[in-house]
Amino acid sequence: MEKITRRHVIVTLASSTAFICPSVLNAATNADLSSWDNIPTDSPAGLKQILRLSTGPASVDISELKPGDVTVIARPNNRWDYAATGQTQFIAALCRDTDYLIVELTCPHKGKAIGLTGDPKVPFACTDRGRYHSSEFDANGMGVAGKSSGDRMIVPEHRLNISNGKVVLELA
Ligand code: FES
Repeated sequence: MEKITRRHVIVTLASSTAFICPSVLNAATNADLSSWDNIPTDSPAGLKQILRLSTGPASVDISELKPGDVTVIARPNNRWDYAATGQTQFIAALCRDTDYLIVELTCPHKGKAIGLTGDPKVPFACTDRGRYHSSEFDANGMGVAGKSSGDRMIVPEHRLNISNGKVVLELA
């Protein structure tokens, strides 16, 4: 079984401010979306901290995530849905106060990568900041701005097994 450690935490969302690991500050982890112009649209931020899996079903122990922590898991996938992200399925796990949000970082609009803003109100935003894109999503994975307004982020097929203080994310 794979395990998420503190090293894999890319962003910690807090109610007022966000802590973003300094090593990813030059990537798409900045609440000032105007600075996202011309960033790559094929991968989310914090590539160094992403947990990379091989293709196929996987079990990932995410027990070490604390409320507000966001981590990203990547695995290869040949489906056309992932053409815009280099045939990679990126999955974010956000630990909330009482539960987890598990969503794909593939934009429901045209499949570009969704990045992490560090903004607790709008933690996810499409890396394509063009006039006809620019989707933004809240902490429930709901589109609140841009082309995906009113659409939900994609939820990967998964199950969360929680027992004895251990949280295991099973990906189909
Ligand atoms: S691909 Fe994300 S808003 Fe268009």
